[in-house]
Parts: sequence; structure tokens; C-alpha cells
Amino acid sequence: MGIYIVSIGVHIPEKIITNDDLSETLDTSDEWIYSHTGIKRRHIAGEHEFASDMAVSAAQKALEKASMAATDIDMIIVATSTPDYLGYPSTASLVQDRIGAKPAAALDVSAACSGFVYGLETARGMILGKTAKNVLVIGSEINSRILNWKDRNTCVLFGDGAGAVILSEDVHISSGIMKTILKAEGDGSDSLMIKAGGIRYPFDSEGTAPDDRYIYMDGRRVYNFAVRANTELIKDLLASENLSYSDLKYIVPHQANIRIIQAAAARLKLPESLFFSNMEEYANTSAASIPIALNEMVNKNLLSRGDILMFLGFGAGLTYGGTLLRW
Ligand code: UT7
Repeated sequence: MGIYIVSIGVHIPEKIITNDDLSETLDTSDEWIYSHTGIKRRHIAGEHEFASDMAVSAAQKALEKASMAATDIDMIIVATSTPDYLGYPSTASLVQDRIGAKPAAALDVSAACSGFVYGLETARGMILGKTAKNVLVIGSEINSRILNWKDRNTCVLFGDGAGAVILSEDVHISSGIMKTILKAEGDGSDSLMIKAGGIRYPFDSEGTAPDDRYIYMDGRRVYNFAVRANTELIKDLLASENLSYSDLKYIVPHQANIRIIQAAAARLKLPESLFFSNMEEYANTSAASIPIALNEMVNKNLLSRGDILMFLGFGAGLTYGGTLLRW
């Protein structure tokens, strides 16, 4: 029996902001951003576009590719840190209504940039437990709304987008998810956070420091964590299935920064070509980055049935997690 990805759909906003565009208003340059991150451009959602809109668009494309109806879906999981509303209702409930998937269960996963890997494993657990058969797992992020566009330390790093996969079970196939590892280091929560706007520190137009509404990041601390998390996940996932590096066709990491990938590859003495990257075009789209990368890999015919892949997620929380699967 295999629990496998049936199809993928993405939504990429049309508007593009290049590094050169940013350097017109910020003390930065294409040279600095590209050499420190591998990012050239990012796509930014329209003024009236929200996480649910992008999630709906990605989900509809995934359904179309799978030749499935929305009513075939019995669970919708949306991984997002930029939900339309603060919990009530979940973004997944809005998606369920808009795509016509009633009465599918709907829940949001809050695990920041690890959200897609966490969501995928939540879906697999639901399928294994016979709670659901076909699950839509969506990462959708409007990072542009939680960025301080005057802070060159953070705003150059992120973009908007959504990616959706349909996860299903097939008793006749042996491909699919082999192993998942999910972890967190909550003691690093303060290194990547939005300080105000939640229940503990509600936004107050007179009392809240304006910058506290946006992403705060201790870049060096997050970088060190990310390199360590990626190397640990790669080693532990392979060991769990008695596999070696040469068994892998591709590693699909969360697309945060090319230097994180390069450092992890160097530590494990792996070729960089084993890691797929497309952050040059999209920057860091948080929970959407892995399905957006996967979609591009499929479109470029990089994957064949039977290939072994690894997804790696890491981000605020500090959460991290990886999935090993046979395509
Ligand atoms: O999903 C997880 C999300 N987060 C991440 O993946 C981020 C992980 N961290 C990183 O990727 C890196 O730490 C950064 C790319 C954020 C920063 O790179 P760095 O090599 O660690 O630079 P730094 O923070 O040590 O800053 C070096 C210099 C500083 O100037 P001074 O103090 O040496 O004069 C910064 O102010 O670079 C400056 N700087 C910039 N300069 C031009 C920081 N951002 C910029 C910028 N343009 N955009």
C-alpha cells in the first residue's frame, strides 16, 4: 500500500519585485542579495488577494490534474502563517467552501516554513487512521503583508505563493511516503517571530512599536539552526530506511537561502546538484516553497516513477521536519 502524491497545483502571483527594484528604496543591491541568499526576484500578491484565494487557485489546479472533483476530497489542510483571519475561521474552512468540498474536514497547520512537511504527515496520519482517503495539503503564504519593507535584513528574503498536493492511498502501489521525522526547538522561538498582533501583545495603534507588527529575525541564529537541522534530517531519514546518499534522486529543501543548502551539502560532502533550488525566482515562500519547487520539477520532467526524494522543512518555532518518499 502506498500513500502518495497524486497531483500538484500552484498559484504564483503575477507581480514581480526584483532585487534592483528593492535597491531603489533600500540600502541594498542585487549583488548583496544574490550573493548572500541566491534570490533574484520574488512574486507579490495583489492588494485584494489573500492566503485563501491563492490556496483555492492552487487546489483547483491540483484537482484538475488529478481529474478529481472537490467532493472527492475528505480533508483539507492549509499550512500558513498568514491566514485570512486569526484562527476563526481557519483558512482551510474558507477553501473548503470556495472549492465546493463540503463536508470535508478542514484545519490549518501552524508550523511556519515547516508547515508543508507537518501538513503532509498530518494528512498521512489521517489516511492511515482511516479518517480520510483523499487529502488536500496546501501551503499558502502572503509574506509580503508581514514584512517591514524598510528592513533590509528581512524584506529581501521572502515572497508570496501557494502550492497544493492531493495525498491519497493506493493499495496496489508501493511508492509514496516512506518515513517522516518532525521536530521542534521551542527555545529558539524568539529568533524568528512577529512580536505583536496576537493575543499576548494585541496590536494597539498607539502602544505598539510599528516594527513589532512585522517579521523579526535573528538571521545568523536561524541560519545556524537551519544548517544543523538540514544535516541532521538528511542523515536520520536515510538511516531510518537503511539508505545512502546515492539512493537519492533529489533533495527538495525549503527554499530559504542557497547558502543554507550549500553549507549542509558541504558538511555531508554531497554535491549541490542533489538539492533542487528555485529560490532565485520566488524567494522564501514559507510553507508554499516545497510544493512550488516540486511542481517545477514535475514540469521540467526531472522526476521518474520510483525515484527517491526527500523534502526538508525548517522555520519559525523553531520547527523542522523531513519526508522521505518514493515518487
Ligand atoms: O525560513 C527560514 C527563514 N530564515 C532564513 O532562512 C534566514 C537565515 N539567515 C540567513 O539566511 C542569513 O543570516 C541572512 C541572509 C539573513 C544574512 O546573511 P549574513 O551573511 O548572516 O549577514 P549578516 O546578518 O551577518 O549581515 C552582514 C552585513 C550587516 O552589515 P554590517 O553590520 O556588517 O555593516 C548587515 O546590516 O550585511 C548587512 N545586510 C545587508 N546589506 C545589504 C543585511 N541585509 C542586507 C541587505 N543588503 N539586504
